[in-house]
Amino acid sequence: MQYPLTRKRRLRASKAIRNLSQENHLTVNDLIWPIFVMDGFNRSEPIKSMPGVDRMSVDVLLDKLKPLYEKGLNAIAIFPVVDAEFKSDDAVEAWNDEGLVQKTIKTIKSTLPGIMIITDVALDPYTSHGQDGIINEQGYILNDVTIKALVMQALSHAKAGADFVAPSDMMDGRIGAIRNALENKKHHNTGILAYSAKYASVFYGPFRDAVGSANNLGKSSKSSYQMNPANTFEAIDEIGMDIDEGADMVMIKPGMPYLDIIKTAKDNFNVPICAYQVSGEYAMLQSAIDNGFLDEQKAIMEALLCFKRAGTDAIFTYYADRVTQWLNP
Ligand code: PBG
Repeated sequence: MQYPLTRKRRLRASKAIRNLSQENHLTVNDLIWPIFVMDGFNRSEPIKSMPGVDRMSVDVLLDKLKPLYEKGLNAIAIFPVVDAEFKSDDAVEAWNDEGLVQKTIKTIKSTLPGIMIITDVALDPYTSHGQDGIINEQGYILNDVTIKALVMQALSHAKAGADFVAPSDMMDGRIGAIRNALENKKHHNTGILAYSAKYASVFYGPFRDAVGSANNLGKSSKSSYQMNPANTFEAIDEIGMDIDEGADMVMIKPGMPYLDIIKTAKDNFNVPICAYQVSGEYAMLQSAIDNGFLDEQKAIMEALLCFKRAGTDAIFTYYADRVTQWLNP
């Protein structure tokens, strides 16, 4: 129908009609809070490249987590800050049942058993070279050798009580190997969130600084396993294969520059689609906010709502703590 019989602005004329006609919504049920944990007690350290985000010992984390959980935050994703003495070429610390991640899971579960804990399955915090896998003499990341290590890491997380393990390493075939191992050990309800379409992105820079793997990685890249930012069809293949291998949910990462990939994933697959508003996205937004160039709450809420519009079911965001409080004050 033509103007003036159709005037799209009628649906925007009042707050009430705007609310009634809104297609997508952001709620606390959409949020997953990634957190950086470190050893010790009563410790909290600011991360320079992520102003407003701290590395925390588990007691400090729990003090923050309890009120957020009461306000409805469902899930956290744990990323460890591993001391240099625990890093090695073979990353054995990754499957130490008494390691930092494993202890953190047990402590959180003993206080807040209902909160969903997602763990990162990847070797980069534990390798002396900062890669997500085991390397050969040429520095090439060995796929099948790495899978064996990832399986042990995932089993160790499941044993400690992780609800979901999230392989973020991009090795071929790791989802099937981990699913089989979990089934064999009777961890039937331990889920897998597969980082299926994880791109080799410069936007992970601040994260590597946060977990202390940036120096280890040096000038090397992750492009021989993470995806080329130019590609779409490859993401469809990756996601399809991970679902066939037993992934319960899949991840697109980074988020905002990759909303088209999220939409493609949502249009093609039926499992929940997660997306990660990564450290570099946080750093960009937060720098503009701290400079007074963007309104904090409006900028963050709009960015996250756009993830929903693109088709994201659950969003990893470092703003989950702030947003939970804004949504449920
Ligand atoms: C490592 C991992 C990375 C992130 C999550 N898991 C970094 C990388 O692949 O180098 C990035 C998250 C972020 O940037 O916020 N397996």
